[in-house]
Amino acid sequence: MSETDNARGHEPMSSARMRVAIVGLGYWGPNLLRVLSEREDVDVAWLCDLDQGALDRISRRHPAARTTTDVSELYADDDVDAIILATPVFTHFDLARRSLEAGKHTLVEKPLAPSTEQAEDLIHLAHEADRTLMCGHTFLYSPPVRAVGRMVRDDVLGELYFISSSRVNLGLHQRDVSVIWDLGPHDFSILLSWLGEMPTSVRASGRAAVVPGIYDVAFVTMEFASGVLANVELSWLAPSKLRRTVLVGSKRMVVYEDGNPEAVRIFDHGVVYEDPATFGQYHLSYRTGDITSPKLSTEEPLAAEIEAFLDRCRGRREDDGELALARDVVQLLEAADRSLNTGGADVPIGAHLGSAR
Ligand SMILES: NC(=O)c1ccc[n+]([C@@H]2O[C@H](COP(=O)([O-])OP(=O)(O)OC[C@H]3O[C@@H](n4cnc5c(N)ncnc54)[C@H](O)[C@@H]3O)[C@@H](O)[C@H]2O)c1
Repeated sequence: MSETDNARGHEPMSSARMRVAIVGLGYWGPNLLRVLSEREDVDVAWLCDLDQGALDRISRRHPAARTTTDVSELYADDDVDAIILATPVFTHFDLARRSLEAGKHTLVEKPLAPSTEQAEDLIHLAHEADRTLMCGHTFLYSPPVRAVGRMVRDDVLGELYFISSSRVNLGLHQRDVSVIWDLGPHDFSILLSWLGEMPTSVRASGRAAVVPGIYDVAFVTMEFASGVLANVELSWLAPSKLRRTVLVGSKRMVVYEDGNPEAVRIFDHGVVYEDPATFGQYHLSYRTGDITSPKLSTEEPLAAEIEAFLDRCRGRREDDGELALARDVVQLLEAADRSLNTGGADVPIGAHLGSAR
């Protein structure tokens, strides 16, 4: 009996090789496949996609993996320990539910599910089945994102006033979801992990400029109880790719630019307000100090995410609130949608599982 059989008995696996299946080999699935294939402790057991052409193309380089267009074959295979789903958002709930019910550890690409209710159902199901459920919020494993999170927590920036973020490029238009559901999970997960709190309200405006009914540009504003204001620009309609977030605090300011060799720059800049000695004569002093850029790990975020997933499957690492965060991200996506569909109305955020970490 292999140690993976123990997993099916719902006991923690040890260091045995895990047999993993990947569903969805479109744009993102091949990245997951590459990272899994580089690991010595994983056998990629199955490749699954509805598109036989994609399967044929990709399986040529992975002859040891079996292929299928029917995901049921993976669920029925007792030798499969874990299933990774890189399929479109509207499939996430059904495919993940069936995977968990079949007793498989499950990694679902972001967002966890198309609705908060379904995200909660999946979390409940994973708990009942005693299986690992994780959502592919890759940026939570990004060294720059983690470094900024430490700065926020360690009060390096002082009182955080606001965060402004742009995640824009030309394409890729998705057929089934708006730009909010496609790119929003990245910024929303990053914001929740940095701030450790849900916003109290979400407001969004946008435009379906190219494909009728599918928003391709959106501006989402969130207000937090701590006073932080966040604005996120999401767009598939931009002349060049930009992933830039600015955090402005009372002591320092930070620019995080994904893909830049100096991904995080800390500006020792600020403005000090001095109480007026006489009415109406307040004084502002501007401080422009050093600009520094911390040395960061070069670990690939996706490799770190897969490592965390495998560790959780093996019972070596606990979920430190990431699943609750994934659920909260879905709630924010829904709230942004609701605001978009009601002419930019303020959508209050009610009860949530809590992504404070
Ligand atoms: N973590 C990240 O940084 C990141 C980046 C990009 C995309 N994603 C996520 O990955 C997922 C896939 O996105 P994509 O851009 O690769 O989409 P895509 O449309 O390019 O690929 C999806 C693939 O899934 C296949 N598929 C659909 N339903 C299926 C089913 N029932 N059984 C088997 N195969 C099925 C399709 O044939 C297609 O090949 C989405 O959830 C997206 O949000 C994550």
